[in-house]
Amino acid sequence: MQTDFLVIGSGIAGLTYALKVAQECPGKKVTILTKTQSDETNTKYAQGGIAGVMDFDNDSFSKHIEDTLVAGDGLCNKKVVEIVVKEGVDRINELIEWGAHFDKDPDGDYKLGKEGGHSESRILHHKDVTGAEMERALLDAIKKCKNIELISHCFVVDIITQHHLGYLVTKSTPDIECYGVYILNLTTKKIEKIIANITMLAAGGNGQVYRSTTNPAIATGDGVAMVYRAKGRIENMEFIQFHPTALYEPGLRGHSFLITEAVRGDGGILRNVNGEAFMERYDSRKDLAPRDIVARAIDNEMKINGTEHVYLDCTHMDQQKFMEHFPNIHAKCLGIGIDVSKDMIPVSPAAHYSCGGVKTDEWGRTSIHNLYAAGECASTGLHGANRLASNSLLEAMVFAHRAYKDAVFNTDARTIPPVNGERAFPDWNAEGTTAPGEMILITQSLKELKLLMSDYVGIVRNDKRLQRANRRLDLLHEETEQLYEKTELSPQLCELRNMITVGYLIVKCAELRKESRGLHYNTDHLQRSKILQNTIL
Ligand code: FAD
Ligand code: SIN
Repeated sequence: MQTDFLVIGSGIAGLTYALKVAQECPGKKVTILTKTQSDETNTKYAQGGIAGVMDFDNDSFSKHIEDTLVAGDGLCNKKVVEIVVKEGVDRINELIEWGAHFDKDPDGDYKLGKEGGHSESRILHHKDVTGAEMERALLDAIKKCKNIELISHCFVVDIITQHHLGYLVTKSTPDIECYGVYILNLTTKKIEKIIANITMLAAGGNGQVYRSTTNPAIATGDGVAMVYRAKGRIENMEFIQFHPTALYEPGLRGHSFLITEAVRGDGGILRNVNGEAFMERYDSRKDLAPRDIVARAIDNEMKINGTEHVYLDCTHMDQQKFMEHFPNIHAKCLGIGIDVSKDMIPVSPAAHYSCGGVKTDEWGRTSIHNLYAAGECASTGLHGANRLASNSLLEAMVFAHRAYKDAVFNTDARTIPPVNGERAFPDWNAEGTTAPGEMILITQSLKELKLLMSDYVGIVRNDKRLQRANRRLDLLHEETEQLYEKTELSPQLCELRNMITVGYLIVKCAELRKESRGLHYNTDHLQRSKILQNTIL
């Protein structure tokens, strides 16, 4: 298959970009690939909302910029922060034009929520299911574009570069080019190639590398792993954001239900098992301090008291308002026997967001030519060492837009090698592989990976733990590569391989950062370095 614009991912970044290029270039073909159902994305699960300066009487660009810089703990790229905050408002208005609805008060003004690290109320939201509303609006708009084809159940395995034409490609090869991708078509069960003029990587996050995460099963870091294998630049992978308040359900591992930070924005109070409101002991902003601080405080309280959770107390809040703003959370809690008007909600931190990823410039260009990246898989410079709440949906839209501008400008100038003939890209070589004999070889390794990442590379780290994680990852890597060489590809095997790569990148970056900053907290290096730098691999 050949296409003009190839998009990997159907979350907010991929869909926004696809819509824009399709509308600008009606004569060109846009192909979106997504590995499961089209709406199964991190985007769909976003609760709190999208940050943006909408109330210029009380808020300003400079306040939003300052809040983002403070949360990012010295590592944000200030120019990028300014771009995202200032251009974000236009992107939000476009989303509204495409049909997304945000909650309004009776006067018709947007109801603006508040979350940790924000000095003003500036979060637009659709009750507590903002992401689902955005995803719906974008998918509806996509359906109206005749030149977009969305192919679901299509697993992208690898990016095609000169390497596949037989050239030696290393990290120092100056002009690595992307020509498309190899996919595992889950409908035909065949490995096929898609050759593309321009490719956009919008493959989302990697929370599944950890045992407990707010991310759905699709978030396995495939995009970052693919780019790393293709010798592209990756940065800041040590900055994994743990959301302070995932619902604690005993025995449940994997995809945890989120209790949005907006609940604390509306007055919810964190209490330890003794009922003490502990946040004032950690930060003057108490429950609304930036996420890294709140997650570490909870982690500490859990360790001191030997518990697996703390509580979020909403019993004092106006219950009518709670129901209106958080109907989904209310229903979920009731479903497991928690009446938020009487009972405190048990919560614990869970892996939530990857601040680092595929390094891009301010137009979403990666270090590989004709490959753009946007959304959670990208590292644009916005988040630095810690993302400010509700800035990621905004970033995804701003960079999808910037990448579209650049890609449309570049597309006609591009020539790709012929698809057929002697110099054609080879078909996938599956010679010598057989059907997977025992799935246990994959599932057990996955369990081990999640456990070691959670126990050794979690909220609090030290050198010994990182060293141990590295050694265990080496073994998992070796065994999985052997399996990969001999076994027919399956999404499970590819995802395991990708998650091991992502685990390795997180550990490697964490080992290189000899200080504690933002989301990276190493008890052997509590001092802060005076030299501010990203960790680039
Ligand atoms: P995603 O929406 O995750 O989409 C990734 C896409 O890539 C999917 O379609 C997937 O199928 C596809 N894909 C991945 N790998 C492959 C592959 N190998 N082959 C083919 N397709 C592939 N941010 C905010 O700003 N505000 C919030 O309120 C907020 N709340 C959140 C709540 C939760 C529970 C979670 C998990 C995240 C939240 N975030 C929030 C973060 C935000 O939702 C995500 O960062 C953002 O939605 C990511 O969008 P994306 O387009 O980059 O990726
Ligand atoms: C939340 O609603 O608490 C999540 C917001 C975010 O991740 O930005």
